[in-house]
Amino acid sequence: SAAEKGGHDYFMLKEIEEQPEALSNTLRGHFADGGVVLDEQRISEQDLRDINKVFVVACGTAYHSGLLAKYAIEHWCRIPVEVELASEFRYRDPVLGRDTLVVAISQSGETADTLEAVRHARTQHARVLAISNTNGSQIPRESDAVLYTHAGPEIGVAATKTFLAQIAANYLVGLALAQARGTKYTDELEHEFSELAAMPEAVRSVLETVPQVRELATRMCDAKAVLFLGRHVGYPVALEGALKLKELAYMHAEGFAAGELKHGPIALIEDGLPVVVQMPSAKGHSQLHAKLLSNIREIQARGARTVVIAEEGDEAVRPFADELIEIPAVPTLLQPLVSTVPLQVLAAEIARHRGYDVDKPRNLAKSVTVE
Ligand code: AGP
Repeated sequence: SAAEKGGHDYFMLKEIEEQPEALSNTLRGHFADGGVVLDEQRISEQDLRDINKVFVVACGTAYHSGLLAKYAIEHWCRIPVEVELASEFRYRDPVLGRDTLVVAISQSGETADTLEAVRHARTQHARVLAISNTNGSQIPRESDAVLYTHAGPEIGVAATKTFLAQIAANYLVGLALAQARGTKYTDELEHEFSELAAMPEAVRSVLETVPQVRELATRMCDAKAVLFLGRHVGYPVALEGALKLKELAYMHAEGFAAGELKHGPIALIEDGLPVVVQMPSAKGHSQLHAKLLSNIREIQARGARTVVIAEEGDEAVRPFADELIEIPAVPTLLQPLVSTVPLQVLAAEIARHRGYDVDKPRNLAKSVTVE
């Protein structure tokens, strides 16, 4: 009923709006006495300290959150991190051992590909840490440590609030590892945590863009294809924006690392093609900001219709943005928590205008329990 959907036409929009709360719930209870607390922890302090390699395995949207984990964990812990699609992981005989940590991310905790990756990792004596939204599900049950995202049940088949919760959970895992290895001390941890703790408010403020994005969707629903560009943490967001549009609106969509444009994808640019660009912060990442700016100029000159997601006050980008969606200024690693939100709304609303069932896209299941 409409009441169950919080007055919306579909659950996904309700779940998009629940993201500030989902994020607070993920953070709450995972930080105490100046340290990160997991929900279950059967890896000894010594073993955690000895970890010298991290693999993140996941599928779909969870995999995109995993790509973000790499930026945070390598930066904070100085441990090499590889992020791999769970369905590819075990079939290529990865190098695993007692000093390897495998982080398995799965909203449902039941995804067969991810579960099999966990089982493979365990036979190779790696330690496994699960991030899941479902208490007592199979992947957490078979792992050595667990962090639950507590985002609440997600009805829409497309992951939204659980994605934001996974990003936060990944960062908590990164901070826990940094702490165990002594690369981050209590006062620095507290600083990182307070930045994270401010994010629910930032997500609340980005929800103010919903009416603008809904209106934009009415003008984009006839596009043949949509491209998404980003760099650094904006790249996984571009991939996620494209996946959402494929799943929900059945449109051809692709996400690219903006630096790759000139190595091929720029050939796709033609008159009127919408290109959604994730703009890095001019203050937080001035070099990348300048590079993206020249990318946008270039594609606009070739006829693309540029839809730019940029930080409030980014005046430099204005002349090149056919559509500008402004997001609040936040620390670089945390930008995906705000910049993903307009992309979720865009995909859902384009799907609705095209007459599709936003909560139950064709051919998809909420949890994929076959390999
Ligand atoms: C996301 O919108 C998709 N429904 C899908 O990619 C999903 O993220 C993937 O199947 C992984 O699911 P999990 O998190 O439950 O393991």
